[in-house]
Amino acid sequence: MQNTWNSELYEKKHSYVFKYGEDLLGLLRPEKGEKILDLGSGTGHLTKLIADSGAQVIGIDSSQEMIDQSSKNYPSLNFKRMDAANFSFAEKFDAVFSNAVLHWISEKEKVVKCISDALKDGGRFVAEFGGKDNIKNIVESLNKTLLSNGYQENADRINWYFPSIGEYSSLLEKYGFEVEYAAHFKRNTFLDEGVDIIDWLEMFGKGILAGLNSKEKQNILSSIKENLSSRNIKNGRWFIDYKRLRILAIKNSNL
Ligand code: BEZ
Repeated sequence: MQNTWNSELYEKKHSYVFKYGEDLLGLLRPEKGEKILDLGSGTGHLTKLIADSGAQVIGIDSSQEMIDQSSKNYPSLNFKRMDAANFSFAEKFDAVFSNAVLHWISEKEKVVKCISDALKDGGRFVAEFGGKDNIKNIVESLNKTLLSNGYQENADRINWYFPSIGEYSSLLEKYGFEVEYAAHFKRNTFLDEGVDIIDWLEMFGKGILAGLNSKEKQNILSSIKENLSSRNIKNGRWFIDYKRLRILAIKNSNL
């Protein structure tokens, strides 16, 4: 699914995405002198934290908007526009890191192949993204609301990739990885005060709602808001029903 990114809105209202990613760095444990690829580097904040460890890091992202923003945020770092399902480098990396990106890419097998090819033997792949049943309430409500209003084409664009541990581990094993650690866990996340599900959908569901005129879009968004208000509000605050898949896998670990 294509989504166009508003990097300013992302930094202002949805900064929890990269803030949670800081915790994932504990699994990466970057070391001085290592070569690390940040796959889906977004606004570059995690790339910077990896670089602070003394590692040599390259950030790649398929969005020009994100590349521009990350280069502006951290001019001394190296960011390149590249597609996660179709990238290659002459050099091999000690680690590939990816936070909150892989659920956007339906060509999951190509992604895993590119990551495997980019790593040295013994190199590590550390990732977190949406796991099975991630944002289940939102997906159900989006789907139901779009279909009942006759927007089949838009509903067909709901194709985020949220695998189980078993499914993703099998895919990694096919490309020479040994899964050293995997976790699938719930992370209900409160949105900031004054931010609601409509803001979230305008940021992350842009590609799905594209093509609707503003009145149609407002109708759909209001119906979803109404529908989810009984499930995704607690103590007056909206939360997103995230479920994360967290992985540490080693390439050709027995070589
Ligand atoms: C997430 O799990 O981070 C996510 C999934 C779909 C859309 C936006 C975010």
